[in-house]
Amino acid sequence: MILSYYDLIVIGSGLAGLYTALNVNRSKSVLLITKAELSISNSALAQGGIAGELKHDDAAYERHIEDTLLAGAYMNNMSALKTLVYESSDNLNNLINYGVNFDRDDNGEIMLTREGGHRERRILHAGGDATGREIIKSLLQLVVHKENITILENTMAIDLIINNNKCFGVSVLHKDKIISLYAGATALCTGGIGEIYKNSTNPSVATGDGIAMAYRAEANINNLEFIQFHPTAFYKKTEGAKFLISEAVRGEGGYLRNVEGFRFMDKYHHLLELAPRDIVSQSVYREMYDTWSDHVYLDVTHLDPKFLRKRFPTIYQKCLDYGVDITNSLIPVAPVEHFSVGGITVDIFGKTTIENLYANGECCDSGVHGANRLASNSLLECIVFGRRIAKTINECHVTKNIKNFATHEITLSNFNYGDIRMQIKEIMERNVGIVRKKENLLNAKQVIMKIKADLRNDARVCKAYYEVVNMATVAALIIDAALKRKDSIGCHFRID
Ligand code: SIN
Repeated sequence: MILSYYDLIVIGSGLAGLYTALNVNRSKSVLLITKAELSISNSALAQGGIAGELKHDDAAYERHIEDTLLAGAYMNNMSALKTLVYESSDNLNNLINYGVNFDRDDNGEIMLTREGGHRERRILHAGGDATGREIIKSLLQLVVHKENITILENTMAIDLIINNNKCFGVSVLHKDKIISLYAGATALCTGGIGEIYKNSTNPSVATGDGIAMAYRAEANINNLEFIQFHPTAFYKKTEGAKFLISEAVRGEGGYLRNVEGFRFMDKYHHLLELAPRDIVSQSVYREMYDTWSDHVYLDVTHLDPKFLRKRFPTIYQKCLDYGVDITNSLIPVAPVEHFSVGGITVDIFGKTTIENLYANGECCDSGVHGANRLASNSLLECIVFGRRIAKTINECHVTKNIKNFATHEITLSNFNYGDIRMQIKEIMERNVGIVRKKENLLNAKQVIMKIKADLRNDARVCKAYYEVVNMATVAALIIDAALKRKDSIGCHFRID
């Protein structure tokens, strides 16, 4: 049953949404809305792990901070970053208490791995290379059984209900109805924007809905030019690159080779294959350019086959499905869109610039990542700031402004907008990728503005329409941000 008022509405069922909802006291009502099924999210696809320190250790915290600053080109917000790292221990232990089974060695100790930019092993993983899936599985079991949480699946948030820079809830598309849902607080946990690129590791639900809604509500949005490309997605001629080959594969000793078989990373960075992700992606791009190729190779053939099968079961099997046995063959890989570093501006309590509106996870810009995210800091961000949002909700005594939820029936259009979606994806892939220049950005802007105008003139009520509008909105914001930043820094690389 849908209530007329909730203490908190959470939009999104990735780690940011689930953890925020779980940390709200039982005395508060929470509505969790998700656009598809509960289990579909970007977090669930996370392979490598979650960074952080299990034990309180100031020296270890400071080293983690230093690595994050180096990766983020020192553009990170220091107070947000300190919060992230210093609160990692409590929240990671909380995940263990929630039932997450991180991988352990024969002595029962939690195993740690490395990824790009980490100068020491500090990344916890689960299910070998299925960390996101394992974390989400444990949290979902708790969420569905917590009596103060109501779940609405297959329900798309369309727009925030805003008056005088204050958020009162959200309008949603639920079956064949548009419903206005009211709440004391609303948290956008809508994830990434990967669907606006042709090649991305994100699931197709990642259409930037939260960022687009926040933009329409006039919230502050920042740093969207920093789109992080993952250097190693499995490359297939027919499909491009999409399936992630975790950085942890390089963390355990994998090499990058160009199509001529040459191991090239020593030309670019002293940390070689474990340089920060922006540098590895840009180096791979350079090697592909120099060798007239559309991919490079990841080589793990020198590692113990038994270890590889046990440590990376998902990757091993998926590559085998694609016809590559990683224990004796090179893996073709190429860089692909992976993570939006910028997003809706939030403070260290997850508050946006709109009263009663919060944001968490990939859709927000908490400032922790700077100009390029350090690997495996994103799941950590979801839990640290999720708990902070929940704490504020738990401590807040709002007077309920109860309104009956307004609902009206609509006639759903079944137009699928597939062509327009593809147009956006192609122009973003071609003109707003790893390497950018003014002329290409302006050209992409022209295409996107035309799409936006066409969509305005041909509005229909259906999920596909709202998604494609959000995609075009976010694409335009990224292009504008990329045009504005004329220098190269972090994962924004201008060649003009
Ligand atoms: C990976 O496993 O390589 C991805 C981890 C991340 O994006 O932080």
